[in-house]
Amino acid sequence: MEKTLSIIKPDGVEKGIIGEVIKRFEGNGLRIKAMKMISLSQKEAEGFYYVHKERPFFKSLVEFMTSGPIVVMALEGENAIKKNRDLMGATDPKKADKGTIRNDFASSIERNIAHGSDSPESAGFEIPYFFSNIELVN
Ligand code: CMP
Repeated sequence: MEKTLSIIKPDGVEKGIIGEVIKRFEGNGLRIKAMKMISLSQKEAEGFYYVHKERPFFKSLVEFMTSGPIVVMALEGENAIKKNRDLMGATDPKKADKGTIRNDFASSIERNIAHGSDSPESAGFEIPYFFSNIELVN
């Protein structure tokens, strides 16, 4: 069993597809271990995406991620990291396979509906960034 962090980004919340995204996770063997809706401050968004701080898109990404509420979830399942990423599709929706969340709903490489941890190391940073141990159900 593996855990991963998922975020439904401001564009996903705005489009009213929280339920649709969660349905795809639950329908594919991912269980929700923790979940909340929050609004990120600039500092919180910068801290979460600090690995991208030198990238040209960093400022715009932080602006986007603070533009509205997001839904953060800790998901658990067999190969949860890969499964979540397969369900989302490629970062750029134009390159994402048909039937993936990003191909179906995303409008650009930045406004791409969902985030998922890309490795066990990032999940190990990202889950505790949002959830304490007591917030994760057994
Ligand atoms: P995410 O999986 O959350 O990880 C980093 C985010 O940065 C990514 O999804 C996109 O929202 C954004 N991103 C990645 N590459 C680019 C890019 N070339 N231009 C704009 N935004 C990007």
